[in-house]
Amino acid sequence: MMTTDHIRRLFLEFFKSKNHKIVASDSLVPKDDPTLLFTGAGMNQFKEMFLGRNVTYRRAASSQKCLRTGDLNNVGKTSGHHTFFEMLGNFSFGDYFKAEAIAWAWEFFTAVLKIPENMLWVSVYKDDKEAYSIWKDSIKVAPARIVALGEKDNFWPSEAPSKGPNGPCGPCSEIFYDYGPAVGCGNTGCSPICDCGRFVEVWNLVFTQFDRQPDGSLKALPNKNIDTGMGLERIASVMQGVKTNFEIDIFKPIVETIEAYSVERIAYSDKKSNAIRNTQYAIRSKASAIADHIRAVTFCIADGVMPSNDERGYVVRKLIRRSMS
Ligand code: ALA
Repeated sequence: MMTTDHIRRLFLEFFKSKNHKIVASDSLVPKDDPTLLFTGAGMNQFKEMFLGRNVTYRRAASSQKCLRTGDLNNVGKTSGHHTFFEMLGNFSFGDYFKAEAIAWAWEFFTAVLKIPENMLWVSVYKDDKEAYSIWKDSIKVAPARIVALGEKDNFWPSEAPSKGPNGPCGPCSEIFYDYGPAVGCGNTGCSPICDCGRFVEVWNLVFTQFDRQPDGSLKALPNKNIDTGMGLERIASVMQGVKTNFEIDIFKPIVETIEAYSVERIAYSDKKSNAIRNTQYAIRSKASAIADHIRAVTFCIADGVMPSNDERGYVVRKLIRRSMS
């Protein structure tokens, strides 16, 4: 089995071999960025460099601790939502652009992780002819496995052109792993657009070339940049052949320990409400959410965010409360 630690190491070593500076994860509390409550993406610590300021190196790679609260209600109910997770990423600040970012992502998947090519699909932004042709003509991905989507799916931040936020943004291209026709809806036309579970998005390659202005216009950045993000827990679930992120090597022992000593308590509290309760699924789902929240709270406290009533501390308090209820 390929462990999560090993995947992280392979990723960083791969980009080191491509002359990237390996940068340590930033704190979960972003420095000098009052617009963010928590670090939610690998690119956060490099925002200034994307804007062409204080560029001290042109290539970087990291495994960034991230916290996102937008999907809180889905945690434990789906195979791959988390509050806390690690994001693997490689970055270019005015150095390489689409051709290299795409070629290296493909090389990492097919030559390093040895994922068979025919299990990978890709998406591109509908107007990004350049990315489409790199996938089709240079990488030789069959056109049937390239889908073109709109700004909701293939722009980062999502829908930035029409809704913002202001700042660095750009079209993106995503790589999906195909679990095969036996998984999901079974329709012959199923593709990454379908959310039946057959396809899982594993890597997002963002071509950060615009700076959205307060009037909504997209101003070209002084440099064209690359910002990629791959959920470590998700790629680990693919490599370990398990159905959910909560079954990977770094999660399973936590989930099982929670299940082992809290089955009765979970069953008891479940009896009190009306939905589908007291089943293995409900127990597993709750234990998974608790495991997620324990990790999030632990890393928050380690980065100096104590449970409290202020904004960040309140998130920690809420995660502890949710784990206890
Ligand atoms: N910043 C991009 C993301 O979070 C890579 O998906």
